[in-house]
Amino acid sequence: MPRVVVTRRMPPEVAARLRALFDVTLNDDDIPLTQAELVGAMQTADGILGTVTDRFDAETIAAGGRRRAQIVATFAVGYNNIDVAAAAREGLVVTNTPDVLTDATADIALLLMLAATRRAWEFETMLRRGEWTGFGPTSFLGTGVQGKTVGIIGMGRIGKAMAQRCHVLGMRVIYYNRSPVADPGVPGAVARDSIDAVMAEADVVSLHMPGGAANRKVISAERLALMKPTAFLINSARGDVVDEEALVEMLANRRIAGAGLDVFFDEPKVPAALLALDNVTLLPHLGSATIETRTAMGMLAVDNLEAHFAGKPYPSRVA
Ligand code: 8YV
Repeated sequence: MPRVVVTRRMPPEVAARLRALFDVTLNDDDIPLTQAELVGAMQTADGILGTVTDRFDAETIAAGGRRRAQIVATFAVGYNNIDVAAAAREGLVVTNTPDVLTDATADIALLLMLAATRRAWEFETMLRRGEWTGFGPTSFLGTGVQGKTVGIIGMGRIGKAMAQRCHVLGMRVIYYNRSPVADPGVPGAVARDSIDAVMAEADVVSLHMPGGAANRKVISAERLALMKPTAFLINSARGDVVDEEALVEMLANRRIAGAGLDVFFDEPKVPAALLALDNVTLLPHLGSATIETRTAMGMLAVDNLEAHFAGKPYPSRVA
């Protein structure tokens, strides 16, 4: 039986399948592995089922020249925590979990957009403080999304799913994608030829591109400054794609209307300046966190491990 180390607690059905298939070390305490423990796992297991909380940098992948692991199956679609170039160089297989989390993540982008535009968090907080004194025709005014323009940056699976949701709400869809998109999946969706064009035109900018070195702070201070003062920024992708300090500035000075964020530059740290703002809705990286989706992600990660050890084609290999 192949030896598999699982770095975080898995949903029950996934854990049961892992136990049946492998000589598995589960992490029921759910305490993230230290870097040294991760290197140790690379040296003693045949395969690792890891998550976004594990950093597989070049050094960890090399494992002091004593790597035993042949595969890292990551429990996420995003793999900016893995040096895939080093993995390819070193002959380490890397797989991810696309598709199964598309709807759950797009739902969170939608939730953040509606929460931000309707100022739900701000008013919910007020109500819980006991400060609600009753109805008023001009109280609690938010911004409607109907007839407004959503700008999707990164028109992949999740970007398209968000575009569809926005279309159903009566929004116009524009988008930027680094490569041409054959079918945006929404009638009337229009491609723009630059991120800048989308930033300047959209009433809601929703980010769906991958994180990692290539996109680090691609939503820069200059690009944020292109946004309309009435516009909102939604990020359910990766925190490192945004210049977080510049975003705080923009929000604090009301140079944009608001933001909805599920991801942060240096998770789980959230800057105090961001926590202090009332025009931002903050969620703790829970885009894919439904029991159905997390189970499906775990099952797909196990499918990849099983395929590897059976010498079969991988359902979703990235390196
Ligand atoms: C994961 C995500 O839950 O898949 C991704 O890229 O951001 C989330 O769905 C998270 O990364 C934990 O692994």
